[in-house]
Amino acid sequence: MMRANATRRPPPPISAPIRQTLIALGLGLLGTAGAAAQQMGDARAGRAVAATFCIQCHAIDGASRDPARVPPDFGAVADMASQTALSLRVFLQTPHGDMPRYQLTPTETDDVIAYVLSLRAR
Ligand code: HEC
Repeated sequence: MMRANATRRPPPPISAPIRQTLIALGLGLLGTAGAAAQQMGDARAGRAVAATFCIQCHAIDGASRDPARVPPDFGAVADMASQTALSLRVFLQTPHGDMPRYQLTPTETDDVIAYVLSLRAR
């Protein structure tokens, strides 16, 4: 006799809109990972960038981290609780103080950010 088996249907195929959403999510995750990777500059190279472009105004070596000093010591910059690679990047995209409008390359920007963040006191 034919039984309830007839009502068992194959699972519905994933509908096109859902499939597109899943693909977009996957690409989004890849994009995020790529951006995160790009933020990881080379702190050693960043120290050289700082010694070239920043040292005439900032104490760059992290030995000094006086939060009251202007321009701020890089150690103090790193210690700011809200400081992130993103906030530094946004900051560095705008000329500041009397800082000449340096044209740091994207790599130099990544590196100097990595360097400043490496000064953070634990
Ligand atoms: C001509 C002097 C001068 C040079 C060169 C200079 N800065 Fe500054 N910087 C300042 C002054 C002044 C301030 C504080 C006033 C302000 O924030 O605009 C400051 C503030 C900062 C801050 C603090 C941001 C915050 O969160 O408050 C950061 C980060 C910074 N500089 C990074 C750099 C880096 C990186 C370089 C080198 C690529 C650099 N500066 C070169 C003068 C300079």
